[in-house]
Formats: sequence, structure tokens, C-alpha cells
Amino acid sequence: MKVSVKVPATTANLGPGFDCLGMALPIYNTVTIEETVLPGTGVEINVIAENDSADEFSLEHIPMDENSIIYKAVELLYNSIGQSPTELKITIHSQIPIARGLGSSASVIVGGLIAANELLGKPADEAALLSIATEVEGHPDNVTPAIIGGLTISSSEDDGSIAYRKIEWPEEWTLTVCIPEYELATDISRSVLPKEVPMQDAVYNAQRMGMFMQAIHTKDSELMKIALKDKLHQPYRMKLVPGLEKIAEKLKHEDNVLGCVLSGAGPSILIISEKNNFDKIKSIVREVWTDLNVKAEIITLPVENNGAQVLTQED
Ligand code: HSE
Repeated sequence: MKVSVKVPATTANLGPGFDCLGMALPIYNTVTIEETVLPGTGVEINVIAENDSADEFSLEHIPMDENSIIYKAVELLYNSIGQSPTELKITIHSQIPIARGLGSSASVIVGGLIAANELLGKPADEAALLSIATEVEGHPDNVTPAIIGGLTISSSEDDGSIAYRKIEWPEEWTLTVCIPEYELATDISRSVLPKEVPMQDAVYNAQRMGMFMQAIHTKDSELMKIALKDKLHQPYRMKLVPGLEKIAEKLKHEDNVLGCVLSGAGPSILIISEKNNFDKIKSIVREVWTDLNVKAEIITLPVENNGAQVLTQED
């Protein structure tokens, strides 16, 4: 039997929502898991890069053995029903650039879990898959929208479960994703964060998370401009993303721009704006990064409202 699952890229944090807000984007990885017939062949993982920007990095850096995150996720699912994965061939067709803050690891974890769950006859429901995916990924903000699509809020509960909801994103607001050519591994980007933060910084983010939810609910652009700020992770990561501070400063003077934030752990930058003036936004980012010799892909995208989808299932 063979199952393929298409999983969207995701952007996490969205300013104030460190480790809790995430949103699906229309760029995809496809994970295929096939039960192989030959006993003793073990688990084989192959990665096929499908675009230039992902190319070298995908092939070099997704570990292709049983220690990879996808294997860990699949193994946890099998273990949850008292089994172990044996003869499996896993193939990842990768379009999501790796180590750019666009949820590439979340997409392979989710794709692997959903495909394996289909192979096993669906023993796990959505919440159980999300809980395993979060255990492997370490935080729920990318895996939740990768599974259910759209804009999501999630929290890790004391019993290991994940509370999560989808939130409707105002159609009037668009996303410009600026993807630099260089990579930044999430563990490096998390290593610069402090273990503790000042109380006033925690309060600052709590205030803005509240504002974020109300701004979305009422489509209030002025409130969104207040909400799209952060003191829990971005200030510490600025030094890892040359140009971010300058780009954000320049974009403050553009009326239609609601905010400029780090996408996940970076180095991609997410700009949220009303639907016009994209060329101006792109030229501001290009100008700053060109001065710093940073090549980048800058794309305007809608939100992907669908989460992971099972594409094919063959016996
Ligand atoms: N919330 C995570 C972070 C997303 O900012 O580190 C990256 O996986």
C-alpha cells in the first residue's frame, strides 16, 4: 500500500504570538509512504527537491536515515498502537525552502504522520496526530496550520494535549514573504533566546496578542498595526537577520503596511499589508538587502485555507 500527503508551508509567530500563532501558505511538500514488500529492507527515506532554492539544501540536510524527524514522528505513531515501523519507503517531494522559517520540518512531520496513519487504518484522530507532531517539533505553532490550514492559535496543555482553533483571516489583508537565500537553522535561532524575560516584555506581548485577536475579528487595520509587534523573540534574533530592523523601520512609513515580522525563527520576513502597493513594498526590501548583498525571493501570497490533504492511496 502507498499513500501520498500534500502539506502546506507555514509561517509562525506573526509578531506577538511566539510559539502559538501560525498560518498556512500555498507552497507544498508531498510525503509519500509505501509499504515495501521485501522483508529486512528497513525504513528508507528519499528527498527530491522540486525547486532551485530548495535544491542543494534539501538534499544535503534532511537526514535520510531512521534518525530523521519524519522517522521519529512515524515511529511514535506506530508505538502509540503497540507496533514498530518496519519495511517502509518514504519519499519527500520538497518545494518548501528549508531552514528559512517556513515550516519545512513541520510539513514533513505532518506529512509522515498523516500518511502513516492512513496506512495503519487511521488509529489516530486529528488531535492525537497534532499532539505527536508537537512532541517531535517542540512547539505547536507550525504543525497546527500544517494539519488544519488557515490561521491558527494553539497551546500545549499540561496533559500533553494541544488546544487549537482556526481563526478567519481577513481577505483584505495580504502576505508578502521575503525569503533570503541563506539558511538559519531553528535550533540556532532558538539558542539566542533568553531563558527568562522581563515582566514588562511578557506584558507587552500579552497586550498585543489580545489586540491581534480583536483586530482580526473586526478587520481593524489600525489596531493590527499596534498588534504586530514583539519583545519575546524578535529583538534577540535581529542580529541573525541582517536588514530586518532597517526594512521594518522603512515600512513604518508605508500607510498600507500593517506590520513586518520575522517568519517563524527566520530568516524569512513576513509583511502584512492591505491589498495594494506590493511593488513599493518589494522594492524597499530589495533595496535594503541588495545593499547587504543578500539575494532573495519576494512573493505575495494568499493564506492557504486547506491543511494537509491525502492525495493518493494505492493498494
Ligand atoms: N515559534 C518557533 C520559533 C517557530 O520562533 O522558534 C519556528 O519553528
